[in-house]
Amino acid sequence: MPPLARREPVPAKHLLPPLPFEYAALEPSIDARTMKLHHDKHHASYVEKLNTALEKFPELQERTAIWLLLNLIKIPKEIRTAVRQNAGGHVNHSLFWRAMSPSGVDAPGGPLADAIERDFGSLEQLKTRFAEAGQQRFGSGWVWLARTQLKGGRLQVLSTFGHENPLLQGHYPILVNDVWEHAYYLKYENRRADYLKNWWAVANWEEAAQRYEGSDRSTRADWEAEGGRFLAATP
Ligand SMILES: [Fe+2]
Repeated sequence: MPPLARREPVPAKHLLPPLPFEYAALEPSIDARTMKLHHDKHHASYVEKLNTALEKFPELQERTAIWLLLNLIKIPKEIRTAVRQNAGGHVNHSLFWRAMSPSGVDAPGGPLADAIERDFGSLEQLKTRFAEAGQQRFGSGWVWLARTQLKGGRLQVLSTFGHENPLLQGHYPILVNDVWEHAYYLKYENRRADYLKNWWAVANWEEAAQRYEGSDRSTRADWEAEGGRFLAATP
C-alpha cells in the first residue's frame, strides 16, 4: 500500500472583510469611488502586507491582528513596524466599516444615550468634541468615541496617529471615524471639517450601542479578538 501523501499545513491568513453595504450606499456623505478605493485598495493592501510580514513566522500566523498589536514586544524586530502599521490598519478599517450604516438611526438610545448625556452633557457636545479631535489630528489618523477602562468606564473622545488603536492604551472603541486623507479627499479635497460634519449622517449608532453594552463585560480575550477577519489554519 503506498504511503499516504502528507498534506502541507495551510498557513492562517488574515482576510479582507466584505463591506457590509454597497459602495454607493453611503452617498452623499461618502461617494462610491472613495469607498471602493478605500476598501478594495487601501484596506486590502494592509491585509496583504500583514500576511506577507508574517510569512516567515508560522508561530504568529494564528494570532489575531489585535493580539499582534497588544503584544508587539513579542514580535521579531524585523517585522515589528510592518505588523504595527498593517495589523493596525486592518483592525481599524474592520471597525470603521461596521461603524457606518446607510440606514442607521440619527441618535443612540438606551445606556449609550445615558452615558453620552452623563459624560458630555449632550449628543451635540459629543459631536463638537469629535469634530475638534478629528480636525486637530495632524496628518493621518483616527478619531474615536471610546470607553475608558481605567476611569470607571466613562466615555471619552480621542484621536490616534497613523493606525494606532485605543485598546493599546486601555480604551475600548465604541465608534470610529477615519481621518486619513484617503477617506475623504476625492470628494471633500482639503475640507476635512465638512467630511467630519457629513459623516454623522452615516454613523452606525446601533453598532455603537451594542459595543457600549458589550464593553461592560469585555475581557482581555474579547479585546484580543477585536477587529479583522481571520482564517484559521487547517491541517
Ligand atoms: Fe482608511
